[in-house]
Amino acid sequence: EAIEKGGYEHFMLKEIFEQPRSISDCMRGRLNASTGHLMLGGIREYANKLVNADRIIMIACGTSWHSALVAEYVFEEFCRIPVEVEYASEFRYRNPVINEGDVVIAISQSGETADTLAAMELAKSKGAIIFGVCNVVGSSIARNSHEGAYTHAGPEIGVASTKAFTAQLTVLTMMALRVAHRKGSITERKYRELLVEFEQIPAKVEKCLELNEDIIKISELFKDATNFLYLGRGYNFPVALEGALKLKEISYIHAEGYPAAEMKHGPIALIDEEMPVVFIATRDSSYDKIVSNIQEVKARKGKVIAIVTEGDALIPKMAEFVIEVPSTNEALMPLVSVIPLQLLSYHIAVMRGCNVDQPRNLAKSVTVE
Ligand code: G6P
Repeated sequence: EAIEKGGYEHFMLKEIFEQPRSISDCMRGRLNASTGHLMLGGIREYANKLVNADRIIMIACGTSWHSALVAEYVFEEFCRIPVEVEYASEFRYRNPVINEGDVVIAISQSGETADTLAAMELAKSKGAIIFGVCNVVGSSIARNSHEGAYTHAGPEIGVASTKAFTAQLTVLTMMALRVAHRKGSITERKYRELLVEFEQIPAKVEKCLELNEDIIKISELFKDATNFLYLGRGYNFPVALEGALKLKEISYIHAEGYPAAEMKHGPIALIDEEMPVVFIATRDSSYDKIVSNIQEVKARKGKVIAIVTEGDALIPKMAEFVIEVPSTNEALMPLVSVIPLQLLSYHIAVMRGCNVDQPRNLAKSVTVE
């Protein structure tokens, strides 16, 4: 096992550090910014169904559901196709409406999650075309979908999903950009610009990993907290959900992720000097809005840890702690901004003596409902 961990103390840490590589592996042969090439080999016969879809329904559970939420924003922005993101367990039991022209994307690291598999079969029985986005080759969801794309992240052993999440984002974003290009819903110039940015993501993730030592120091200070709030807007809203999920899964600290603006409809009541609030506040179209949200938290004495874009001059004056990540297009930012959150949860869990690779009560793959 020590050999399999490749010198890392835990599989989770190894898998976090593998991400520059796993994201590149996921892009290999599929994306080439200099030629404008973008092609997912597993999506051929039904590619037109996706391009001409009236609606896309994404079904998933857990972390995979969070990647679906990011993908919702990407598909809607660039493809102008309405997207619905569904918890597989809810979708399958409520007699969902599936029309001709709807396509389903089932997202699952293991490809064996019982609810996702059942939801997908239900949609299929109602005539939907199913695309599978799975990591495990030959898994049930991969085999039973019409077409799909593998995430090629390599085996993920840690129960808390890390590299599978970023690989899912990579595949789903490639799918969206391919569709947008085919539909002509983005300009050639914007498309090429995004491919160039996309190709730089592995190097930017690598830069985030260099923040490890700083994050260890922050983890020391917050390891005994009993609650955490994670807030983000736009593309970083699902990242807030994912950051909170990572922390609660492995450190057993209660954590909630919320859209930052929604805070005033509830979570703001929880804020006092004991409450660490992680803002994912990178420079994007909702930057000014999130700055006001930080002020609202500061006014109530919350302790702010902010993930910001390199060179941000404003937020460091307001937050107790800042973690700077490289800038990129906002649609690609979740691939970058989630990395420090993975590290934060990992270190806090280790400092609390938790079994990070096999947290209590959790399974890597939930094959019963
Ligand atoms: C379990 C795992 C999570 C995972 C979820 C969905 O809860 O612990 O890490 O995100 O299942 O799994 P899937 O294999 O379908 O992505």
